[in-house]
Amino acid sequence: MPQLKWYRVLGPEEAAKQIPKGKLQLVKIGKQRICIAHTELGYTAVSDICPHLGESLSKGTINFLYEVICPWHGYRFNLKDGRECQQRTPDLEVHKVEMREDGLFLGVIR
Ligand code: FES
Repeated sequence: MPQLKWYRVLGPEEAAKQIPKGKLQLVKIGKQRICIAHTELGYTAVSDICPHLGESLSKGTINFLYEVICPWHGYRFNLKDGRECQQRTPDLEVHKVEMREDGLFLGVIR
């Protein structure tokens, strides 16, 4: 039965350095590719694989609506619920992410 497991992906200083506000970062947990974003909303995490044609969303950008924009064809995915703005694709999987005293943790269902 799938369960939520937490993974420490970066220490607190590493997280601040590697994922400053406005940036995206690819993280791999086993075979899962996850895109972590840092915005005024805090840290959020969605699947890294664009459901349109598979580009890596962590190579994209973030806009003022807190959407990640796929670099290939410009589809836009909400960082909170994973929904593509025109619903042209299935939603991205959304993951839990927490900044704790000892680092940035990602919650993944496995
Ligand atoms: S592969 Fe992402 S929009 Fe086409």
